[in-house]
Amino acid sequence: MPYFISKTNGCHFESVTLNRPKARNALCTPLFRELNAALQRFDQDPEIGATVITGSNSAFAAGADIKEMKDLTFSDAYTTDFIELWSAQTTAIKKPIISAVNGYALGGGCELAMMADILYCSSSATFGQPEIKLGIIPGAGGSQRLTRAIGKSRAMEMILTGRSISGTQAGEWGLAARVFESSEKCLEAALDTAAEISSKSKVAVKAAKEVVNKSQELGLRDGVEYERRVFHSLFGSQDQKIGMKAFVEKNQNPAWTD
Ligand code: CAA
Repeated sequence: MPYFISKTNGCHFESVTLNRPKARNALCTPLFRELNAALQRFDQDPEIGATVITGSNSAFAAGADIKEMKDLTFSDAYTTDFIELWSAQTTAIKKPIISAVNGYALGGGCELAMMADILYCSSSATFGQPEIKLGIIPGAGGSQRLTRAIGKSRAMEMILTGRSISGTQAGEWGLAARVFESSEKCLEAALDTAAEISSKSKVAVKAAKEVVNKSQELGLRDGVEYERRVFHSLFGSQDQKIGMKAFVEKNQNPAWTD
């Protein structure tokens, strides 16, 4: 059985459904290899504007595969750069990724959800970094991305105790952009947002993702200067001419070309 089901939606965006039900979508290495290969394919496909990653109603993903990890030695982990491939490749994708989280998003599952550009969830979703209960710590960016998303004190509490939070709480704390009352509504909204993003200028969407991500790495002055340089560069695109001409002519549906 494939580790995920991929679906092209009207040729404009892609959705990927993690599909390892017997292990609550635990993220074994072959699954992540396949997922990253698919994301890279979509990234290079000029027809595709965005990707939605989701799981089942009961599990987005229950984390890294504990059975795969349990006998690893330090040497194995260090020399193979275990798990580096996950975040390095997933976060190198240039087109927007939306995670639609239902059920458990634990450990690496929570980390994968946070690697996305936009996170939606249902109110009954469960987010957590329970690695401390296994005698380890988050290893795919959880300590960094969770802290940036919800603040140090809340992230410390979750990571030091291994306690989970609900989807409702994730919305209140700013981890999720939006929270939905059911899994179906959550996925539907993620697909709608992917479709909306895919209808925009691809060059502008790529630039927008790039500059927002820079805000996570640069100080304010450098970030604002970086943004302005990229803003200036868009005046060299066809889509800037097309978009502004359409506004002036009261045309609601510009035909983007870049
Ligand atoms: N790795 C491997 N197998 C897993 C798994 C995981 N992360 N999570 C669940 N499974 C397996 C279980 O072992 C079980 O397999 P068997 O049927 O062969 O026994 C099957 O999935 C179903 O699991 P449960 O019976 O436990 O299902 P449940 O509905 O009662 O509980 C759960 C679901 C709360 C998610 C529970 O399975 C659980 O706590 N899983 C582990 C969560 C976890 O600790 N994640 C962090 C992993 S470490 C990590 O991710 C490091 C990192 O930062 C990258």
